[in-house]
Amino acid sequence: MAAILKNHSFITFLFLFQFLSWQIHGFKTPFHPKDVLPLLPRQVSWPILNSLYSAVDIMPSFVGVASIEGNNTLEWKGACFFKNIAWLELHNKSNSQFGGGTLHIKVSNAHSWTCMDLYVFATPYRVTWDYYVLSREHTLEIKEWESQAELEYVKHKGISIFLMQAGMLGTLSALWDVLPLFSNTGWGENSNIGFLKKHMGSSFEKRPLPWVTNLTNTDDIHSGDFLAISKIRGRWGGFETLEKWVSGAYAGHSAVCLRDSEGKLWVGESGNENDKGEDVIALLPWEEWWEFELTKDDSNPHIALLPLHPDLRAKFNETAAWEYAKSMTGMPYGFHNLIFSWIDTIDGNYPSPLDANLVMHIISYYSLANFVFTALF
Ligand SMILES: *[C@@H]1O[C@H](CO)[C@@H](O)[C@H](O)[C@H]1NC(C)=O
Ligand SMILES: *[C@@H]1O[C@H](CO)[C@@H](O)[C@H](O)[C@H]1NC(C)=O
Ligand SMILES: *[C@@H]1O[C@H](CO)[C@@H](O)[C@H](O)[C@H]1NC(C)=O
Ligand SMILES: *[C@@H]1O[C@H](CO)[C@@H](O)[C@H](O)[C@H]1NC(C)=O
Repeated sequence: MAAILKNHSFITFLFLFQFLSWQIHGFKTPFHPKDVLPLLPRQVSWPILNSLYSAVDIMPSFVGVASIEGNNTLEWKGACFFKNIAWLELHNKSNSQFGGGTLHIKVSNAHSWTCMDLYVFATPYRVTWDYYVLSREHTLEIKEWESQAELEYVKHKGISIFLMQAGMLGTLSALWDVLPLFSNTGWGENSNIGFLKKHMGSSFEKRPLPWVTNLTNTDDIHSGDFLAISKIRGRWGGFETLEKWVSGAYAGHSAVCLRDSEGKLWVGESGNENDKGEDVIALLPWEEWWEFELTKDDSNPHIALLPLHPDLRAKFNETAAWEYAKSMTGMPYGFHNLIFSWIDTIDGNYPSPLDANLVMHIISYYSLANFVFTALF
């Protein structure tokens, strides 16, 4: 929640600061043209920004770990501030069970007056972010560790620090490039198609009518048959687009058909929204699932039914499949899980500049991204 609030003030602040610092320091120090682009009228600045940055720029890069005092102090070079050091101090100012801590960050040698660095700080238990515009010591207060486990983690492993690659404005403009993907409008849908065409070289050809097969007779659908789904609109559409891009797949979502002992057809699906609005793994009667996809799914789903090869169908263990499906029903399934579908080799999973260190925290980061997207749209 803090991220949402922060984000609003962060944008206001950004523009105010840009303007003021321009006035005050404009003649003193050269500013980087990229830093002031957002001040220009949209028609002028957007094409420039679009050519400078891409979606990969919203991916933070790992700079290191700030560990507790007495251990080595972390030192690195940022996008804006060339000399930065950080260390962590543990304390119990909050008189709470696990105590809290202060992350000290000293930034200096800014390359211009108007630039700033945006950082994401993470432990496996939290993720927060901050940005720095002034050369001095900054602190990030953590009032209270969430658990004994988090306290132990920071004692031994410290707090991981990620730098948003393109600096503050690059990050913002990269977000602007990606944000339309999540908009539940025709414009958002076209953005998804445009993104897939541009980054994956996908082609989109309109199918002849009818666009929906008349599936009143489902006798030909068997246990283990696969539903490959591609959503191209709204929240899921946007995430699927990014997922297709990183994984190289053309389906962003999948579901599996299962028949019970009475022959009734079911669909096992992840990312199904329950009554409480949580995304969970669900088993739905075929009729309910199909009806939803035909009439209520606002992500413009493209669904292909892929029957299991007869040889494999002969080997498919329905009992085991049901046992597994029932054990997974109701389990949370959201962006956290989606991220893991990006990972299938030790390295070489991600378009540069993603790296393995980032993956450790990307799960939390995606919750943050989700906040950001919610906040901006
Ligand atoms: C912090 O102080 C409170 C109250 O004085 C105490 O109960 C708690 O154990 C302390 N926590 C740590 C980690 O020292
Ligand atoms: C910092 O030092 C303490 C003890 O001196 C050690 O237990 C801890 O693992 C060290 N942390 C890091 C990140 O090196
Ligand atoms: C689908 O097929 C059934 C039976 O073959 C038929 O009664 C029904 O009208 C068809 N529905 C549509 C929308 O074509
Ligand atoms: C199918 O799965 C069940 C439950 O896991 C198991 O008991 C059974 O032996 C399996 N059948 C075959 C043919 O492998």
